[in-house]
Amino acid sequence: SNLNFYPLVRPLLFRMDAETAHHKTLDMLSKASRVNLLKSCLLGDVPQIPKKVMGLTFLNPVGLAAGLDKNGEFIDPLGALGFGFIEVGTVTPKPQDGNPKPRLFRIPERQCLINRMGFNNQGLDTFLANVQKHRYRDHGGILGLNIGKNAATPMENAVDDYLIGLRGVYPHADYITINISSPNTENLRALQGEDELDQLLGALTEERKKLSQEHGKHVPLLLKIAPDISEEQCIAICNIVRKYNLDGVIATNTTLSRDYVKGLNNADEKGGLSGPPVHAMSLEVIKTLRRHLGPDIAIIGVGGISNGRHAVEKIEAGADLVQIYTGLIYQGPQLVKNCVNALKTIHI
Ligand code: FNR
Repeated sequence: SNLNFYPLVRPLLFRMDAETAHHKTLDMLSKASRVNLLKSCLLGDVPQIPKKVMGLTFLNPVGLAAGLDKNGEFIDPLGALGFGFIEVGTVTPKPQDGNPKPRLFRIPERQCLINRMGFNNQGLDTFLANVQKHRYRDHGGILGLNIGKNAATPMENAVDDYLIGLRGVYPHADYITINISSPNTENLRALQGEDELDQLLGALTEERKKLSQEHGKHVPLLLKIAPDISEEQCIAICNIVRKYNLDGVIATNTTLSRDYVKGLNNADEKGGLSGPPVHAMSLEVIKTLRRHLGPDIAIIGVGGISNGRHAVEKIEAGADLVQIYTGLIYQGPQLVKNCVNALKTIHI
């Protein structure tokens, strides 16, 4: 059985303010999953095409990107949509409100979003309580936990926030993402600079050594980067990633560019643009990463996947796994299955 309700629901959701629709959708999803409606009726089954990456076995290579479930409250209902892995966060050490509303905007003509949420989240303690409650991992789901810094923490103390995050999430994560690429926390992207990154990854990998002994497990560490970087910057990042033996890179976050949406309603809103225009940009970054990281460091390709072909292109460019966010808002959960099916045909 495979009824696709999303085309019926979407027009109603799109009549609401984008952030209100977001909360409404997660609420509905959560209720539907509690009565087992998702697996049995909405989606049918997503095929399993297991793949081992970073020592973890993913039941399929299609994941949910960070930022949709910032507090880790909806892991089971989102898991029921068939994702091989789910990344929650970004979490910051302390709770924070994020930017004033409105801060999430649609550009429907291009199936894009612009967001300047600014890491609104309930903080590390609540996050950790939430991520210990779900059953997704018991069913073979892989859970990624994404960490960031509080807006109020001065940039010179940024490393401390990431260390607090790392220590907190370490025991509960299948992998951990160091997010230094949100455009909505002032100067965060400066951490992508050579000296800053060297310092940050030096401190985090040293702490990881201690944590891996303390907890008796090696938890993969990944770096999430922006699409708005030059090839030289990307190569510099690769060298530091190799120097500290990180397990992977997630490419990419949202873009500051507006080239493909110029003149459209909402295009001048401040924030990060997501959706189809990011696809080509992230492909370029993925290709450069693969050339300079060698074959053994994992790449998760994300940005503008809105059909199965896009997912295939990410893998062909050098990604091991893919993630989606904005495509899900425009296409609905059917997109997960479409991507998995497309990847199944190329025997990844
Ligand atoms: C995001 N994204 C994001 N990424 C991250 O690492 N931490 C976060 O908290 C968020 N928050 C967030 C909120 C909203 C509303 C959006 C649309 C996006 C970025 C996201 O994970 C992804 O990298 C980009 O959106 C590009 O992929 P898509 O959306 O084009 O598939």
